[in-house]
Amino acid sequence: MPIRFEHVGHTYSAGTPYEYKALKDVNLEIEEGKITAVIGMTGSGKSTLVQHLNALLLPEEGKIEILDRTITAGEKPKNLKSLRGDVGLVFQFPEYQLFEETVIKDVAFGPKNFGVPESEAIERAKKALAMVGLEADKYERSPLELSGGQKRRVAIAGILAMDPKVLVLDEPTAGLDPLGTVSMMSLFSKLNREMHKTILIVTHDMEQVFKYCDRVVVVENGTIRAHMSVSHFFLDSSFCKEMNILPPSLIRMKDLLKEAGFEIDERIHDIDGLASSIARQVKKHG
Ligand SMILES: Nc1ncnc2c1ncn2[C@@H]1O[C@H](COP(=O)(O)OP(=O)(O)OP(=O)(O)O)[C@@H](O)[C@H]1O
Ligand SMILES: [Mg+2]
Repeated sequence: MPIRFEHVGHTYSAGTPYEYKALKDVNLEIEEGKITAVIGMTGSGKSTLVQHLNALLLPEEGKIEILDRTITAGEKPKNLKSLRGDVGLVFQFPEYQLFEETVIKDVAFGPKNFGVPESEAIERAKKALAMVGLEADKYERSPLELSGGQKRRVAIAGILAMDPKVLVLDEPTAGLDPLGTVSMMSLFSKLNREMHKTILIVTHDMEQVFKYCDRVVVVENGTIRAHMSVSHFFLDSSFCKEMNILPPSLIRMKDLLKEAGFEIDERIHDIDGLASSIARQVKKHG
């Protein structure tokens, strides 16, 4: 069952002088079993959009269907706890979701809250922390003493320990070093491929979108500007130019080579393929 937004609107601070309409008539269908990137400029409404997926924010207009539940504007959502077990959300600022006195207790909190016995919850927490690559010597420390990147890993582990069906990650690699970013994105990719998790990733990093995601949703000024497959979106740089987005380096390179007179097959999707194509053409024509 897909995730469906129908005519969803969200207004912050409604009825006050600070009222701000952050989502406007959003209609969107997100396929299950895929990795969907949510992109768009700062302040466009990405975080607002994804926080509706586990009812952290509620729609003021329209409705959202997620798994087998419906959240309708003006109605109190039912079975919130079970929804939050099925849809795990990692906040853009992970420090907002860490609150226990030690890292291990923080990660074990979710499963324990869902009735998993203490010892099993701790085991699950250790497994999740190993998945995100946090060293065991940090397990007994306070999450507040960790660096930004380490806090992010703990927050992600806290969600993984719950084993949700849908993972919603708001800028999950912000603050991670380049190697950490690659290993985190590879982990999400593996969770999607091997455990069929539906994954939504909010990101400003087009290289990640190009390399790891199947679908892309472009949010602009509280509306959905585009929604399509990543391969279609990055066929060349025209969509990016139209939407003011810097294309991934491979696409920029393909454009420059085309301008220089090379014939570049649209299906080339990595640097090795591009290099062999150029080498062939140089050999042939000198
Ligand atoms: N709690 C709030 N109260 C009032 N306005 C808010 C609140 N949270 C967000 N907004 C406004 O809603 C709009 C969308 O914010 P949102 O956080 O969804 O953007 P975003 O696309 O996630 O941006 P970023 O890329 O910077 O994270 C922004 O203009 C923001 O100022
Ligand atoms: Mg945001």
